Amino acid sequence: MKIVITGALGHIGSRLIRTLPERFPGATFVLVDNMSAQRYCSLFDLPTGVDYRFVEADVLTDDPADWLEGADVCVHLAAITDATSSFDRPEEVEAVNLTGAERVARACAANDVAMLFLSTTSVYGPQGDEVDEECDESELAPQSPYAQAKLRAERRLAKIAEEDGLRYVIFRFGTIFGVSPGMRFHTAVNKFCWLASLGKPLTVWRTAYEQRRPYLDLEDGVRAIAFAIEGDLFDNSVYNVVTANLTVRDIVEMIRTSIPDTEVGYVDTEIMNQHSYSVSAVRISGRGFYPQGDPRAGIHRTLELLKGVRTTSTQKAII
Ligand SMILES: NC(=O)c1ccc[n+]([C@@H]2O[C@H](COP(=O)([O-])OP(=O)(O)OC[C@H]3O[C@@H](n4cnc5c(N)ncnc54)[C@H](O)[C@@H]3O)[C@@H](O)[C@H]2O)c1
Repeated sequence: MKIVITGALGHIGSRLIRTLPERFPGATFVLVDNMSAQRYCSLFDLPTGVDYRFVEADVLTDDPADWLEGADVCVHLAAITDATSSFDRPEEVEAVNLTGAERVARACAANDVAMLFLSTTSVYGPQGDEVDEECDESELAPQSPYAQAKLRAERRLAKIAEEDGLRYVIFRFGTIFGVSPGMRFHTAVNKFCWLASLGKPLTVWRTAYEQRRPYLDLEDGVRAIAFAIEGDLFDNSVYNVVTANLTVRDIVEMIRTSIPDTEVGYVDTEIMNQHSYSVSAVRISGRGFYPQGDPRAGIHRTLELLKGVRTTSTQKAII
C-alpha cells in the first residue's frame, strides 16, 4: 500500500506519520510539504523500519501527479491554517486551500487515488443549538477567509467527483488539542495552554466565553483518518469528527486545575459569530468510529510539556 500525505510535517501530519505505520505495516508513506511552516523538527527521529519518502514540494506549483502515481490514498492536509491571520492574506489562503486542494483532487482522480480532505467545523455558523452534516445551506456560514476557502474546496471536490470520477471523503475536524512533534499554538486550546504556562492572561474573544464549540483530540483525529483508510470510507460524503463540544469557560476551568491563578483578558476579533452551538458527530459513529479523547488529559499533557517554562519564568507551577 502507498499512502501520500500532503502537509505531512504540520501539527496533525507529524503525529499521523508516526501512527499510520503502526496501522499499515509494510506500507510506503510519501510525505509532501513545502516547508512553509518550517516544521523541520517533524522529521526528527522518525520510527525506523518504515518506508518513508519525503518530497519537498508545493501543492500549488509542483505537479501532484509526480508523487501520486501508484498511490492508493492521499490524505490532503496541506493548507494555510491560521484562521485569524487569514483576514490579512485572503488571496494566498484561497490559492493554497482551494486551488491547491483542487490540483491535488484532479491528480487523484486522474491517477485513481482515493482522497481524504481535511476540512473544518468552522464552516458552520448555525442559528440553532446543534448542527450536523445534513444542515440547511444557511447554516454553512464560515466566518473567516480560511474557513470560506475550505467550504469552497469541499464543493469543488464534489464537482471533480462528478466530472472526473474522484473518490473522496471529507472530514470536518473540530479544533485540535493535544501534542505532536510539529505542534502549533495558534488554535484555541493550545494557545491558552501556552499563555497560561507563561503566566499571561488568556486572550479570549469578547463574545466567546460562554459559547460552545467543537474540539477534537489529535489522537482521535489520527485514529479517524486510519479508520477511513482501513474501512475504505471514500463514499464522497462529509463527516464531522469531534471529541467534545466545550465552552471557553470549560477550557479555562480545565487549565485552572493545573494552574489555578490563570487569568482571562478579553479581546475583539473579526471572527464574531454570536451563537453557541454544538457539532454532532453521529454520522461517523454510525459508521463505527467513536472518539476516545479527553480534553482534560490533552490539556494536562500540553501544560506538562511547558512546565519548565513556567517554573523558571513565572514561579507558578503546581503540576
Ligand atoms: N489543527 C486544527 O485545529 C485543524 C482543525 C480542522 C481542520 N484542520 C485542517 O487539517 C489540516 C492540517 O492542519 P494542521 O493543524 O496540521 O496545520 P499546520 O499548519 O500545522 O500544517 C500544515 C502543513 O502544510 C504545509 N503547507 C502549507 N502550504 C503548503 C503548500 N502550498 N504545499 C505543501 N505544503 C504546504 C505547511 O508547511 C505545514 O507543514 C489543514 O488542512 C487544516 O485546515 C486543522
